[in-house]
Amino acid sequence: MTEIISKVMRKLQNEVRAVNKGEEDILTEDDLTDMHYLKAVIKETLRLHPPLPLLFPRVLMRDLKINGYNIKANTRVIVNAWQVGRDPKSWYYLPEVFEPERFLTANKGMNYLGNDFQFIPFGAGRRICPAIQFSSTLNDIALANLVH
Ligand code: HEM
Repeated sequence: MTEIISKVMRKLQNEVRAVNKGEEDILTEDDLTDMHYLKAVIKETLRLHPPLPLLFPRVLMRDLKINGYNIKANTRVIVNAWQVGRDPKSWYYLPEVFEPERFLTANKGMNYLGNDFQFIPFGAGRRICPAIQFSSTLNDIALANLVH
């Protein structure tokens, strides 16, 4: 585990230093454009450790069949985003392992904007987190500066 973390950290530092070349003290939004590995690291962190692991509860407005289960109207349903992010049916390659590269290869293009239901750290549908853009930029800038 420690080995994986130091491998990721080395790659991340190399990317941040290559983009910045030590010219600025504080990195800004403009510096983030080419930091693809950094964005993959943030995605992988949110996949394995979503800060809100059980999304906001929903209540069914009518009887519904979901995945073969008959669910009555007014039932409270809790979505386990933590489990969704580790489901081996969606995450074929070592689902429990911290491997940001998956977002640059097998899962390239997958995002947390609410359209990829295998990856929902910000939820999905009408109650999706309204601060996705704000939080992702903030996360990217904070991590880039920490690593820098
Ligand atoms: C990495 C940071 C964040 C994560 C992972 C996150 C995640 C979430 C999740 C999972 C939900 C529930 C969505 C659902 O049930 O479908 C939510 C809702 C919400 N989030 Fe965030 N959030 C983050 C940051 C923020 C920030 C910074 C703000 C405010 C500035 C914010 C404001 C809200 C609000 C107001 C809702 C409720 C939306 C509604 O019920 O209609 N979030 N967030």
